[in-house]
Amino acid sequence: MAARAHTSAVPSSNKHLLRWVEKMADLTRPDAIHWVDGSQREYDRLCALLEQRGTFIRLNKELWPGCYYARSDPRDVARVEERTFICSLSRDSAGPTNNWADPYEMRRKLKSLFQGCMRGRTMYVLPFCMGPLDSPASRIGVQLTDSPYVVVSMRIMARIGRAVFAEIDKDVKRVVPCMHSVGAPLERGQADVPWPCNDTKYIVHFPETREIWSYGSGYGGNALLGKKCFALRIASNMARDEGWMAEHMLILGLESPAGEKTYLAAAFPSACGKTNLAMLVPPKALKGWKVWTVGDDIAWIRPDEKGQLRAINPETGFFGVAPGTSARTNPNAMATLARNTIFTNVALTPEGGVWWEGMTDTAPAQCLDWQGRIWTPEIARKTGASAAHPNGRFTAPAAQCPSIDPAWQDPEGVPLSAIVFGGRRSVTMPLIYQAFNWSAGVYMGATMASETTAAAAGATGKLRRDPMAMLPFCGYHMGDYFRHWIKMQRRLNATPRVFHVNWFRKDEEGNFIWPGFSENFRILKWIVDRVRGRAQGKETPIGWTPYYKDIDWTGLDFSEEQFTRIQAVDRAAWRTEVIGHEELFFDLHDHLPPEMIYERELLICRL
Ligand code: GTP
Ligand code: SPV
Ligand code: MN
Repeated sequence: MAARAHTSAVPSSNKHLLRWVEKMADLTRPDAIHWVDGSQREYDRLCALLEQRGTFIRLNKELWPGCYYARSDPRDVARVEERTFICSLSRDSAGPTNNWADPYEMRRKLKSLFQGCMRGRTMYVLPFCMGPLDSPASRIGVQLTDSPYVVVSMRIMARIGRAVFAEIDKDVKRVVPCMHSVGAPLERGQADVPWPCNDTKYIVHFPETREIWSYGSGYGGNALLGKKCFALRIASNMARDEGWMAEHMLILGLESPAGEKTYLAAAFPSACGKTNLAMLVPPKALKGWKVWTVGDDIAWIRPDEKGQLRAINPETGFFGVAPGTSARTNPNAMATLARNTIFTNVALTPEGGVWWEGMTDTAPAQCLDWQGRIWTPEIARKTGASAAHPNGRFTAPAAQCPSIDPAWQDPEGVPLSAIVFGGRRSVTMPLIYQAFNWSAGVYMGATMASETTAAAAGATGKLRRDPMAMLPFCGYHMGDYFRHWIKMQRRLNATPRVFHVNWFRKDEEGNFIWPGFSENFRILKWIVDRVRGRAQGKETPIGWTPYYKDIDWTGLDFSEEQFTRIQAVDRAAWRTEVIGHEELFFDLHDHLPPEMIYERELLICRL
């Protein structure tokens, strides 16, 4: 290591860490090593470096203070699920819903891929903490990466830098090693490209040794390893072993005019409305109600000594879907991303601002699209080209969110009263229903499905089962995961109520029946009333549903007839639905908890 230039002081004395960094540098051969201190000064310097390299464009300082714009390589725009691996010792531990690979063979493969892969680049030693530093629930990782874009993004998304090194030096918490390379070494004199990456991609998890190795991508969940790789795939393994839950859920608090606060967590698949729901602004007609944001993507949930479930948001930023985000649909997101935000794969306006489909009613007369090509509304009409990539995103600090909950960094987390599941379903699924009890609720989550979105590479709009919105993120056997959910209830004094929502049901013409966004508040309000024992439920074959009169319709014209239509439970469609449940269960059968079989039988009987 002595031969390699250190561009910063070494802020850690942890021998394991120092040895590992040295070993990884010997493998990857970076020109320099930079220990990330997490300061504003360092952030500004890295952003300037990214500007110099053409990765970043600094946005208009008056219009978008502190904001940067990036375009990825068009071959690196979303998570790559088919290149994501769980390398447990036995194939059975990973289960049939994960790509399993033999850990010995994978290690050999990774060793050859990472051999010299950082030549010509700087290796950043990036310590991060998921969850508040002072929380017993938080977990620590160190990501070695050759991407400065990742370092600045991670500074928004997680707690990083000196304070985390200090935590590591205490040697109390186990550190998860996370290796990351964009897989684009530079030969002497070779010019860099704005978005280095490699067509060969590997996103690899070793659940037993709690390690992550990511190669070839610089985008989102593939590269910001604290997020999906750590906080879901590795953390789901930790959670199972330690008796807690790592979930793909937003967390919000709903406050009544009288100041009564109720927290819930909701699991929707990628690009199905978590960020929007988490920042919801209640309709103006419902005076005095407020929604507080705790998290928009990931929840770590555990029972406290009193048997009450409590949730923390392990992240500190939002990596949110840009298209569709507007002052009308999500004003809190728009306020959050107004400054100190990194935009990736959206459009660049001539004034040095950003734009995406749905941001304003009228498109700019001309802009540069997410690939830097000239885009006009005419071109769009002729070619169908979108200005922003459908998975174009903003990376924005959570602290800037106007609705951020005062307790969002509470080390103990917030108390959860309800869990909500939901997906993008054009047919069959009603707007809202409630599970009869916990095991029916686990069944509800386990059999969830959704039409696929652009958040992952591959076809969009195809219905797939996505249990608890965790299909791409559960780091072990899905059947064991259901078992873990069932078991969690035994440690609880108060069981959270479980609900299913669907904002996306369509009419015969293909239009959404439900106005969505802020109107979703009315449904949340019924959920709170149910949790607090204030609203009646109507029994149906699939669960409890609201009476029309029990939803607050003040200020919204939505007739009882429309409500009946969006709530319709079509028995024939539901029988087909249950066959879909069976297909998933068939794959998982030898790990499936018996409760899932019984719940399915009960559902069939009721239908
Ligand atoms: P990830 O960050 O990928 O996990 O996505 P997410 O679950 O946070 O989804 P997000 O809130 O970013 O919403 C994704 C898309 O769904 C956006 O284009 C939204 O405009 C749209 N959307 C969100 N809520 C609603 C709703 O209530 N109704 C309708 N019709 N669309 C919605
Ligand atoms: C998701 O796909 O669920 C996301 C975006 O939140 S990414 O971080 O890329 O996984
Ligand atoms: Mn997500």
